[in-house]
Amino acid sequence: MSDTLGKMRRTHNCCELGVESLGMEVVLMGWVLRRRDHGGVVFVDLRDREGITQVVFNPVVDQKVHEKAHGIRNEYVIGIRGKVDKRPEGMTNPALTTGEIEITVDELKIFNAAETPPFLIEDKVDVSENIRLKFRHLDLRRPQLQKNIILRHKAAASVRHYLNSKGFLDIETPVLTRSTPEGARDYLVPSRVNPGQFYALPQSPQLFKQLLMISGFDRYCQIVRCFRDEDLRADRQPEFTQIDIEMSFVGEEDIINISEGMIKSLFKDVLDKEINTPFPRMTYKDALDRFGLDKPDIRFGLELKEISDIVESSGFKVFSSVVKKGGIVKALNAKGCSDFSRKEIDDLGELTAIYRAKGLAWIKVREDSWQSPIAKFFTDKEKEELTRRINMEPGDLVFFVADQPNVTNEALGHLRNHLGKRIGLIDENEFKFIWITHFPLLEYDETEKRYQALHHPFTAPFEKDYKLLKDDPLSVKSRAYDLVLNGSEIGGGSIRIHQRKLQEKVFEALGMDRKTYEEKFGFLLSALDSGAPPHGGIAFGFDRLVMILCGQPSIRDVIAFPKTQKAACLLTNAPSETSKAQLDELSLKVKTVVPQ
Ligand code: AMO
Ligand code: AMP
Repeated sequence: MSDTLGKMRRTHNCCELGVESLGMEVVLMGWVLRRRDHGGVVFVDLRDREGITQVVFNPVVDQKVHEKAHGIRNEYVIGIRGKVDKRPEGMTNPALTTGEIEITVDELKIFNAAETPPFLIEDKVDVSENIRLKFRHLDLRRPQLQKNIILRHKAAASVRHYLNSKGFLDIETPVLTRSTPEGARDYLVPSRVNPGQFYALPQSPQLFKQLLMISGFDRYCQIVRCFRDEDLRADRQPEFTQIDIEMSFVGEEDIINISEGMIKSLFKDVLDKEINTPFPRMTYKDALDRFGLDKPDIRFGLELKEISDIVESSGFKVFSSVVKKGGIVKALNAKGCSDFSRKEIDDLGELTAIYRAKGLAWIKVREDSWQSPIAKFFTDKEKEELTRRINMEPGDLVFFVADQPNVTNEALGHLRNHLGKRIGLIDENEFKFIWITHFPLLEYDETEKRYQALHHPFTAPFEKDYKLLKDDPLSVKSRAYDLVLNGSEIGGGSIRIHQRKLQEKVFEALGMDRKTYEEKFGFLLSALDSGAPPHGGIAFGFDRLVMILCGQPSIRDVIAFPKTQKAACLLTNAPSETSKAQLDELSLKVKTVVPQ
């Protein structure tokens, strides 16, 4: 047996000891956060995942141990034995749980030295995220990240506990599987034993959970990894985690109730916060009309107002021609913001350009006039109507976008979120949930010139809309629901199609012929034919939920080993090239290697 530890065994963690333990002999182990020499006495802040305890090496107590302590550097791994003493008057630290005591050491073991870390192991350290990700094992030692990862564990435990108490069965589903269409590209894995064939990593366990309902495992749940090869953002990772749920013999209300109960107990368990249920609901149409986005941040007002009817025949050709071509014009009134500079307004124009807006018109409302490049185009009557519709008052700054409805809404929706923060309309301590319902079943993809499922192709349409599937597919509404928290889509699900006939109709509306859908989804269709119960479910973005629970700006902050915007792991240097031998074994040939 190794005697690395000798006779030393930990008695406490670094956050446990207080004045009630005075006089006790204790053994602590951990990392050296910092070492200070004060008049011959060496102080070390010893850190483990629970907290920090001050340990003291005094030459009067033990000359040899004190000498050894001089060799200690930051991030050394040590164990100490000593006595719990009260800190002298004026030396206490109320910021620490252990701030009233210190350990007077009489035995020191240095388990390991450590090189000077590339950045200080503390929060608010000024170093690029790439460096932090390259040395993620050190980054993870920072108190904020330790807190985040521990909170993530508590959140998972809470969710499992709740779902277990409601009779859900945790069932694992394959990672090497077939493509599951959730709207992203697949990650493919070549099969060695089946040359030229590929597995796809699951974008979600959607089809497996439906198959489990057909198998009779009513009430399935899983905290599961999903893989999507899509453009990454602060709230998107190529591999992420879902709380995945499916139930049989249910309607929308049942799934919504379980979800609200789960969220309520999660916030109570993790943050000791009471969340009021039921959550409000809004249709997709209302969300777009009022907020421009299907994930509205309802912590603040600042709603969009459509003015197409007022400007349709105005002298401002940009607006009138857009309306004539089927587009819409909407306005956003930034109350009291008429002091925004030209530069800032231009920057906001650049922001809306990201969402393909061709321009951002604006009006500054003065006491008795409008200051604006477009004021001259409107008649007095139009001005009056606009003033009333948009509630324009002196001091206001009003923005306008004219474009096809999706562009107008998206551009102004994002501008609204930006302004909400900029003007300080958001209470960061609030949690505002809202269900979005009555989504269209399909949307038209302009680039691919075909219909696509807004959620996934297994979402049930409302029965009264079946008849529209063939001739007016865009007006078919689906039985899908998304849960939005503070403007972030944290979950989405639906009642599913459980009959072959309807599933085939939807595949056909998506432009698939029989051969294609039989080839891709024959196994599902035949399962639907084998006695499929009515069923439905939902999946929550676990990383996004934890990000919000932790008050962090990015899901990278709540994932132990996240990837960069370029889907790379800087710690392990994945992805990487592979050897010719390995490629040969997989019957693969790399066509071109584009230099990075
Ligand atoms: P959906 O595609 O809406 O639904 O995904 C569910 C939730 O997962 C989160 N999410 C992500 N989080 C981080 N990074 C990503 N790349 C990412 N993509 C999605 C979001 C989202 O709301 N099978 C269906 C669910 C169902 O119908 O039951 C599905 O996957 O928070
Ligand atoms: P122009 O006459 O093209 O110079 O545009 C006058 C103002 O209208 C400028 O402030 C443009 O940014 C703005 N504008 C141009 N196109 C649009 C549009 N599609 N929607 C909103 N504003 C626009």
